Amino acid sequence: MADKAKFQAIKGVRDILPPESALWTRVEQTARDVFGTFGFGEIRLPIFERTELFARSIGVDTDVVLKEMYSFEDKGRGELAVLRDVLAGFNPAPHSAEFRNTVMKALDKYWEALNSPSSSDEVPRDPDNLKLIEAFKRNYNQFLRVRTSESALTSELTDALVWGLQSLARLIQLGEFVSLRPEATASVVRAYIEHGMQTLPGNVKLYYVGPMFRRERPQKGRYRQFYQIGAEVLGPSDAPGIDAEVIEMLMRLFERLKLKGAVLNINSIGDKNCRPAYVEKLRAELQKVRDQLSADSQRRIETNPLRVLDSKLESEQAIINKLPHIDQNLCADCRTHYDEVKRQLKIRGILPTENWRLVRGLDYYMRTTFEITAPGLGSQNAVCGGGRYDGLVELLGGPASTKGIGFAIGTDRLVLSLQEAGETRADVTVRVTGSALTVAAGSVTVSGSGPDVFLAWFGAAAQAAAVGLARRLRDAGFVVELPAVEMKFGKSLGLADRLKARHAVIVGDDELAAGVVTVKRLSDSSQQKLNEQELFSYLREDRAT
Ligand code: HAM
Repeated sequence: MADKAKFQAIKGVRDILPPESALWTRVEQTARDVFGTFGFGEIRLPIFERTELFARSIGVDTDVVLKEMYSFEDKGRGELAVLRDVLAGFNPAPHSAEFRNTVMKALDKYWEALNSPSSSDEVPRDPDNLKLIEAFKRNYNQFLRVRTSESALTSELTDALVWGLQSLARLIQLGEFVSLRPEATASVVRAYIEHGMQTLPGNVKLYYVGPMFRRERPQKGRYRQFYQIGAEVLGPSDAPGIDAEVIEMLMRLFERLKLKGAVLNINSIGDKNCRPAYVEKLRAELQKVRDQLSADSQRRIETNPLRVLDSKLESEQAIINKLPHIDQNLCADCRTHYDEVKRQLKIRGILPTENWRLVRGLDYYMRTTFEITAPGLGSQNAVCGGGRYDGLVELLGGPASTKGIGFAIGTDRLVLSLQEAGETRADVTVRVTGSALTVAAGSVTVSGSGPDVFLAWFGAAAQAAAVGLARRLRDAGFVVELPAVEMKFGKSLGLADRLKARHAVIVGDDELAAGVVTVKRLSDSSQQKLNEQELFSYLREDRAT
């Protein structure tokens, strides 16, 4: 038997199918509606950016950058790239005389290609790369000189020179290093600076919806391609009222979606004035209990002691709980800011749980951090995370005066939590606007419940009539299923039943002659003949009940 390839989605990524996809649409649409009422506009961002953007903003010590990014060298597949790979693939010395010749030939061709106008256009001209190219040129010229004087060219010397050139060729970048976005805050800030948005009046409020990529160990609620709905506020003000309003917006969204049991955790992690001293204090305390900590936490004592507070290891909990708390180490400005955020939340009727261990896994945060957990998610129960990042715009080359705060909701987890709670309604309101054909504006069900109308037709003339009727029904916002080929009566109604249609509308020769359609309500098999105007009134009334 022929071998049939069986393709499956890659580990950690998945398809989202109907009817679940309709719930996703509802969640995303509700976010757009709620965020819109708070004055946020949508930003559509690239899926990939330069790796350096993420490394600089998220931080080179973070799990996201160190372990989880999908990165690649964005090079063309031209001759230069092929020759570099050929060269890099040769075994290191020692080489036989014959093989040495092949390697040298490949070296010559690589150098030629690197200098050819077509490929050199693609090679990044940043200072580091130019230095590497210069070093290659020097070594290559030296190699050419010794190569011409046969006697000077011992096999060891050739091997050593070739090996050096091979290594340099591996280092010379042939394209930008880019990464699939693991999050979107860095991109929003990049876009804010690139488009000079600091000249816009007031704070710039942006939201985004889309996929992110992290190479994590997949489990329930944790995927390698996952989705976020996020929002960011960028501008000159860091008023605590902004922090509170951003959190209020989230709570309003969760309320609208009927997400029950959401718990808001907040913290302040200080700023560049008070945090370094706290980190040192923490480091000193951690050194004292070093032996009782896991290898990961031991490593973090050096790299980022704050992250030890994140540890979920049972054996470390008692030790961590005895460490100094950040809220007793905030400077006066951070203390005032944090107290005011809490007061501002209170006047909005929001009572957070203070959690001094909430430090977040990305480097750009300062002052306010927050996370929202939701039930039904197991260990991956953070449905949303966010915080203030006042220094990030400056770090990425924008004006130092620009402040920032935002959050991202994990859409996969939000949907999962709604499903666990049985909140799977997916009705969305579709506004049918202004066309002459518009008969009614209304609410259309796009969930797993079936179409409003299964339009069964019999005969060529009936098909033409049915196509026209389907169009008018759809223009009015009804969901219509129209068979593409003629079906026998019994089969047709059987399919309508299986699709869970509310009505079968039947068009045959008799109906055509009488200028009516037969409408059968499938729940009770009641049947009547109606003209088109009556049909629309009937369907509209039926939908209202
Ligand atoms: P984050 O905490 O890394 O923050 O991610 C935000 C949310 O995305 C998490 O709370 C979680 O719900 C979801 N999430 C993260 N990784 C995965 C995954 N592998 N699978 C499924 N869901 C996941 C950020 O991304 C920041 N950019 C948030 C932010 C915006 N801070 C300020 N502005």
